[in-house]
Amino acid sequence: TDIRGLKDFYKNYFSVGVAVGKSSLNGEEATLIKKQYNSITAENDMKMEMIQPVEGKFNWATADSIVNFGIKNNIGIRGHNLCWHEQAPEWFFVGKDGKEVSKDVLLQRLKTHIDAIVGRYKGKIYAWDVVNEAIDDDSTKYLRNSKWYKICGEDFIIKAFEYAHAADPSAKLYYNDYNTERPEKRERLYKLLKSLKEKGVPIDGVGLQAHWSLQEPTEQELVTAVEKYSSLGLNIQFTELDISIYPWEKNKRAKRLGESDQFTSELEAQQMAKYKMVFDVFRRYKDVITNVTFWNISDRRTWLDSYPVPGRKNYPLLFDAQLKPKKAYWEVINFKNK
Ligand code: G3I
Repeated sequence: TDIRGLKDFYKNYFSVGVAVGKSSLNGEEATLIKKQYNSITAENDMKMEMIQPVEGKFNWATADSIVNFGIKNNIGIRGHNLCWHEQAPEWFFVGKDGKEVSKDVLLQRLKTHIDAIVGRYKGKIYAWDVVNEAIDDDSTKYLRNSKWYKICGEDFIIKAFEYAHAADPSAKLYYNDYNTERPEKRERLYKLLKSLKEKGVPIDGVGLQAHWSLQEPTEQELVTAVEKYSSLGLNIQFTELDISIYPWEKNKRAKRLGESDQFTSELEAQQMAKYKMVFDVFRRYKDVITNVTFWNISDRRTWLDSYPVPGRKNYPLLFDAQLKPKKAYWEVINFKNK
């Protein structure tokens, strides 16, 4: 068996990462991580509600163990994330009087949070997803009407980057979002990134989540997105890659339609082709792509098993439930000039 892993095959291109939790730091999953990857992201354990569930009460234990695992094994750590409308505890938005806080108070709380976490891991976390998913799902609207936005307007985005940069000037800072290859989202994300650049916000790059399917993105959509965002002088990281076997739009009704949740050889072949296409594009754009991270380790457990249809099995990754490389894995490492 080859002692090389994805990180070795891609060493002249970009780092290759994976989302992890506490349970993946021991045993056979840890062995696989050490062989295959040179970057890790905490799937949940650095999010606001995990780190500071109650004002001033910080839970560092799991995040620390992930950071220590990375350092000990010479694996880089991407931080995820500093500000998001999900997994942000309610206390952030509510004052002692039970009423919604002012913009000043909310920004102060955001700063305290960012100072604490970015400061704690200063010099240890090479990249942070500073703001996650701030663009509205409704394509006729621009920014999502989250509590952050309602109370602070666009300033919460700008401030989050400024706070993070001040807390660790050497960490690379990213805005992170999904469906970023769809034309309607692409134009709005481009508008946001351009305005941040024009305002002199300390942003280094854009995180494209890459929760994809067999249907999308097309090669043209992917190439257009990479070229468009990088034209702003930003580098690109694919931060949460997986390729679902279900069409995204039909996701919600698939179970009701009685569709099978078997990973048939036909789906396997389609997924292999899709992974080949996207990695071909990634390699072509290695000058602007600095990291590609998979969202979960293997088909043994992925967030797509419970979303959006609870209990419907999915098979979106390069390793199967036994942690064996799938056909798509061999396709991803099968290229010249490794
Ligand atoms: O920790 C609790 C556990 O105590 C409880 O018993 C259990 C019962 O539901 O829930 C556990 O929390 C779950 C948490 O994951 C940890 O496993 C939450 O319910 C569940 O909603 C949460 O889902 C995470 C999701 O973000 C939250 O929105 C997924 O694991 C995680 O993969 C997903 O990751 C996001 C990225 O951060 C941002 N981009 C999209 C991506 C996929 O949604």
